Amino acid sequence: MSETATSGDIMADESAEQRDQVIGLLTKAYWMEIETVMSYIANSVNPDGVRAQEIKESLEQDIQEELGHAQQFAARIKELYGVVPGSLDFEAEQTYLQPPGDQVDIVHVIRGVIEAEQGAIEHYSRVVEETDGIDPVTQDMVIAILHDEQGHKRLFEGFLREYEALGLA
Ligand SMILES: [Fe+2]
Ligand SMILES: [Fe+2]
Repeated sequence: MSETATSGDIMADESAEQRDQVIGLLTKAYWMEIETVMSYIANSVNPDGVRAQEIKESLEQDIQEELGHAQQFAARIKELYGVVPGSLDFEAEQTYLQPPGDQVDIVHVIRGVIEAEQGAIEHYSRVVEETDGIDPVTQDMVIAILHDEQGHKRLFEGFLREYEALGLA
């Protein structure tokens, strides 16, 4: 057995410190997904108007995908000998995805979704970077999730573009 601190095996005893670091990143990601699920449920129900329908339906589909992400992050925390936190540890951050004053203000929702997806993209890009050469399995998983978030962001940027073209944003 090698005595070096970097065995290349994230599951090894000597990788405990690196594992804790990865678990910290995964825990943040887990909470981001949980909050996104909450925000998308509210915003898939609250908005009024004909124009809001498509946005609501799109968010409704995303809820399942974001929930799946949260479950993947939780499972990976467990695999790395961590503990998935309880709800009392939750701290909300998505100020930009609170219900607008007027429920026909769908542009507020679109911009909020873009900001949430951008936040996820930034954090997951960081996880991909920090797990490089340390934990390829987490890195692989997060690359796939990052791809999903890029798709979500791109879709809502398209929605925003349409509202801008119509002079509504
Ligand atoms: Fe997600
Ligand atoms: Fe997303």
